Amino acid sequence: MVNIDQERLPKHIAIIMDGNGRWAKQRGKHRVFGHENGVNAVRAAVENSARLGIDFLTLYAFSTENWNRPKLEVQTLMKLLVASLRKELKTFIKNNIKLNAIGNIDALPQKAASELRDVIQKTASHTGMTLTLALSYGSREELKSAIQAISVKVKNNIISPDTIDEAIINSHLYTHDLPDVDLLIRTSGEHRISNFLLWQIAYAELYFIDVLWPDFSEQHLVEAIINYQNRERRFGKTSEQLS
Ligand code: IPE
Ligand code: IPE
Ligand code: MG
Repeated sequence: MVNIDQERLPKHIAIIMDGNGRWAKQRGKHRVFGHENGVNAVRAAVENSARLGIDFLTLYAFSTENWNRPKLEVQTLMKLLVASLRKELKTFIKNNIKLNAIGNIDALPQKAASELRDVIQKTASHTGMTLTLALSYGSREELKSAIQAISVKVKNNIISPDTIDEAIINSHLYTHDLPDVDLLIRTSGEHRISNFLLWQIAYAELYFIDVLWPDFSEQHLVEAIINYQNRERRFGKTSEQLS
């Protein structure tokens, strides 16, 4: 069996956790059953990433577009979020994981937002992996907010337009504390980005897997990392320049 090369780990892995609804449907159950089982795959992915030595794991849990789903499904997802945060605090403590969130957190139900802020605060001093949950997250909304914030600073003469560079743009994104994504994984066989981290994945390696999210296991994660390690990241250069 091929092993992971510890010297060449992706620093930042982002995952579009997709396929809960189809997983439930295959079993003749309601979509919500898929979300409930998806939680176990989240815990496994978090613990396994931390153990493998990944520094940053970012999980797409709820998009700005997901608000358009049936009310019952949205309510259940929010309830699951509150229950999971409460339950997983001990997982975060045990693994020295620091919780972070990106997205329009104020748009979440008050209970979910306060539970989230509470766990973020309780894990703030942790020095292991940073786990970022993307909640009510949309990349276009993130970019829109950044442009608005920069525009206000330009208007107030805090920033001059010709000094706006990538670093300034980065510093106005929800992800200002995070490095660029190295490896982006999407489960469920869909080959799209669905408004996730458009700016941050500029040079990410993309990995699509047919497995539905509740079935995503440690083995799948290890395979994704090994696949990543077999790629040559050229960042625009030629292969010869790299060696
Ligand atoms: C991903 O699974 C979870 C969320 C988007 C919240 P889906 O609910 O999108 O499952 P499918 O894609 O319908 O199977
Ligand atoms: C993307 O999945 C959002 C999350 C995984 C949270 P969706 O299931 O919402 O994406 P689309 O609608 O199929 O593109
Ligand atoms: Mg989906």
